[in-house]
Amino acid sequence: MLISSLPIVRDTLSPLKQSSNWADFYSRKRLGARYPTEWVIRTLAGGNYPGLKMDKNRYAGARILDMGCGDGRNLPLLLDLGFEVHATEITSDIVTSLHAMADKYDWPVNFKVGMNASLPYPDQYFDYMLCCASCYYLEGTMTWAGVRKELARVIKPGGLIIANFPDDQTAILNESIRQADGSQLITNDPFNLRNGTRFMAVTEKTDLEPLLTPEFRLIGSGHQVDDFYGLRVSVFMTVSERL
Ligand SMILES: C[S@@+](CC[C@H](N)C(=O)[O-])C[C@H]1O[C@@H](n2cnc3c(N)ncnc32)[C@H](O)[C@@H]1O
Repeated sequence: MLISSLPIVRDTLSPLKQSSNWADFYSRKRLGARYPTEWVIRTLAGGNYPGLKMDKNRYAGARILDMGCGDGRNLPLLLDLGFEVHATEITSDIVTSLHAMADKYDWPVNFKVGMNASLPYPDQYFDYMLCCASCYYLEGTMTWAGVRKELARVIKPGGLIIANFPDDQTAILNESIRQADGSQLITNDPFNLRNGTRFMAVTEKTDLEPLLTPEFRLIGSGHQVDDFYGLRVSVFMTVSERL
């Protein structure tokens, strides 16, 4: 069953439990070279499409935040493109292992612990923000409007946010439960990592503009639908300007 019209329920898993799920997940990963994901390469290094023209002359020395950088797979790409790179993850354990990897590969990246709803930076600090499968995670009492406001707070006016959002047919959202705020409570994550988390997902491309308004203006968007050997992963990718 896909998106259900089951009754609205409150999520029960605490943010603490979610954090330890991710810390366990990354602690089992080998400290090795990382490879960036295709949509990020296409958007930032490519960036020349009918619906998106990125000005790569603006990258050198510009400050970018890789928000929820995970195992750091996109960091070498951001460094190669000339950015001053900052990155967050949600626990100090994850950040400690990111530090170890950055030391090993000599990556000049500034790491901090932070969450989408609470970022440890001053107002208007970044020229760019990358949210690769990270800004739409909602836990506990978090709201998407609150998260969007916080992301916007740390980006300069005229700065760009590059973010993807799941569509509601993606496999992780099978049997999810739609909440009053439009988010979807995950109950059947195939990887058993995100049950209890809510995702801010969208149904159609036309949902993206309202999702990003009023702090951002949508500049370009695309839709990626993959069938990874039976696992559907389908997401909208977006580039938006901080107003
Ligand atoms: C699917 S992974 C993506 C990681 C990385 N951006 C990448 O592309 O590989 C989702 C990441 O979001 C982080 N995360 C979970 N909840 C978050 C939150 N509320 N705020 C920020 N990051 C969060 C997790 O720790 C995890 O590393």
